Amino acid sequence: MITTLDNYNLTERNTFAMKVKCGVFMEYTKAEEIPFILSSIRKDVKRMHIGAGSNLLFTSDYPGVVLHSAIKGIKILSETSKEVIVRVGSGETMDDFIKWACDRQLWGVENLSGIPGEVGASAVQNVGAYGTEACDVIVAVHAFDEVDREFVTFSNEKCRYGYRDSIFKKPNFKGRYIIHAVDYALRPEVSPTLTYPALKTMFGDRDTATLTPHDIREAVIATRASKLPDPAKVPSAGSFFKNPVVTEEHFERIRQQEEGIEVPHYKTAAGYKIPAAWMIDRCGWKGYEEGNVAVWHLQPLVIVNPYRKASPDEVVNLEKKIIDSVRQRFGITLSPEVEHI
Ligand code: EPU
Repeated sequence: MITTLDNYNLTERNTFAMKVKCGVFMEYTKAEEIPFILSSIRKDVKRMHIGAGSNLLFTSDYPGVVLHSAIKGIKILSETSKEVIVRVGSGETMDDFIKWACDRQLWGVENLSGIPGEVGASAVQNVGAYGTEACDVIVAVHAFDEVDREFVTFSNEKCRYGYRDSIFKKPNFKGRYIIHAVDYALRPEVSPTLTYPALKTMFGDRDTATLTPHDIREAVIATRASKLPDPAKVPSAGSFFKNPVVTEEHFERIRQQEEGIEVPHYKTAAGYKIPAAWMIDRCGWKGYEEGNVAVWHLQPLVIVNPYRKASPDEVVNLEKKIIDSVRQRFGITLSPEVEHI
């Protein structure tokens, strides 16, 4: 079913609760409706696709068409003792699918518990948390290709996944593919991912055979609650900035500069990844409030709209100030993780 709404208020469609509107909002419940919807939008009208709006900052009203998939459904495609392949509709809430998997003792997505967003967008953004990224479990992404006007399937490899990145975000492809379903490979055998330090501390000594996906799920949800604002109560878009990667020399310079303080970092193939949260914290932003916006007091990587009154300008001004201060102190220009519309 296709629903079309004119002059639509997007406040409830973006978790930052920016009070913005779009020209037209169109929602669909079946993949077959996508080609029909696309051909109904005039070529000169701008359009964009949203999921749960949990990683977006609308900087003003959107004059064009906002599309949203309400395609539901979780279906087992194949099942062996080693692997269960599951197809999930792009409009399913990611955490509903995660709970579904944990309820069935299927491993693979439990570390992503509590992550905001819907299945389609999580495959675009390659969401990640507590040692797991969506790309670790995605085997295929099904989409409609607007240019060639045909349904296509991307293998995991073809998605070109990276840190919060995929082919679906690349400038040449952005907006071209409308995702209607995602296939995941889950594991029936006990196989917890305990690489994240807090999870290792909690479960490292346990006999893994006794663990269930729900054990990890509960721990992850508790960890999230201890650091991140509750999306139902405090509007935000999660991590506002990406964690930057710098060269070894740059990292050494920072280490010398911050003499006596341990600089948290992860070594990656591309260089040294330094948590943006740590740098923002060092610049003194934690808990900072200005007008209607604030830096979350437990995790400075998150900008919040605590009174639901913030304007996009207030958010962007605070963003600029944070970027400037981190650049001055560390010589690193942070990039937003949140997509600015
Ligand atoms: N830190 C501080 N002060 C703080 C908080 C953190 O110095 O107040 C430092 C600590 O050294 C800590 C480090 O920052 O060890 C990293 O913090 P954390 O492990 O909480 O993770 P993060 O790098 O801040 C990333 C993701 C989160 C994800 C967590 C957990 C990005 C941009 N963010 O945050 O994702 O939940 O890891 O895996 O990669 C999101 O994308 O919206 C998101 C919340």
